[in-house]
Amino acid sequence: MHHAEWLIKRILFLEGVPAVAKLNPIRIGQTVQEIVSNDQDDELGAIYAYNNAIGLAHEVADQATADLLLTILKMEEGHVDWAEVQRSQIEQMGVENYLANQATGAAG
Ligand SMILES: [Fe+2]
Repeated sequence: MHHAEWLIKRILFLEGVPAVAKLNPIRIGQTVQEIVSNDQDDELGAIYAYNNAIGLAHEVADQATADLLLTILKMEEGHVDWAEVQRSQIEQMGVENYLANQATGAAG
């Protein structure tokens, strides 16, 4: 939720009104594969949106907003990378072994 807090602070600094009541629908999924896949899709959507917003910030010469958005964009790219790794591991080792590994990792 840090991203939302950073964005709200920036909007308030710019004397705007953050629209926090309008959220995108949350898609969770029925299986581990669906959960990871939905997460990855949402992250890709966020990357698209942040790239567009950075373009707009540059159009109005708002470097500070562009910098903030770039910081968040890089974090979102890391989340996509994480989801890709999870999908690859599930595909290579099967979901049962993947989940066993997750449980072992959590315990260790
Ligand atoms: Fe993310």
